[in-house]
Amino acid sequence: KRVGVLISGGGTNLQALLDHTNDPTKNSAAEIVLVISNKVDAKGLERARNFNVATKVISHKDFSSRVEFDRQVNKELRDAGVEIVCLAGFMRVLTGEFVRSWKGALINIHPALLPLFKGTHAHRQALDAGVRVTGCSVHFVEEEIDAGAIIVQEAVPIALDDTEETLQEKVLMREHVAYPKALEMLARGEIQLDDQGKIIWATPK
Ligand code: GRF
Repeated sequence: KRVGVLISGGGTNLQALLDHTNDPTKNSAAEIVLVISNKVDAKGLERARNFNVATKVISHKDFSSRVEFDRQVNKELRDAGVEIVCLAGFMRVLTGEFVRSWKGALINIHPALLPLFKGTHAHRQALDAGVRVTGCSVHFVEEEIDAGAIIVQEAVPIALDDTEETLQEKVLMREHVAYPKALEMLARGEIQLDDQGKIIWATPK
């Protein structure tokens, strides 16, 4: 399956997806064909270029509305023949129109065990709540932020001396395991989204 990845920054999750899909021993069903960033200085763009993957910068500032920006992103993805879209640290909220048009083929990673700690500052929220375990979730994207059926989760125990920074580091390591796993399941057709927004698992769980 042809995959497009949307980023805004560092792109370590993009790196994990590139490493996985380009590892011949993994025999991946996914191929990253396009990386789009809304920021010209996103480090992830360089990571894509290192793998000879096409990149595109589409600055949201060049558009008068979210709808117009999303339509341009959508056009680039469609023109590249993309079949699955991964959000990897993409810091723009996508319009309903965009989300609906990629239903069942649009996934995101969030640095918490959803449905807990949605939105930004997930690690601070986890520390404030005093939970002893947090983690990350790869999920199908719904119009509502950080909602949508969960595909893969990885857990991370919280140490008493963890800070937002140390926790972010630990969770990020697990994100790099979870995201390739989830993309692979989708690309192989092992999961599908039904009309109710629930996952149909092809293999028994
Ligand atoms: C990750 O923590 C991801 O869960 C969140 O944004 C961060 C992106 O990191 N949505 P990177 O750009 O992949 O390094």
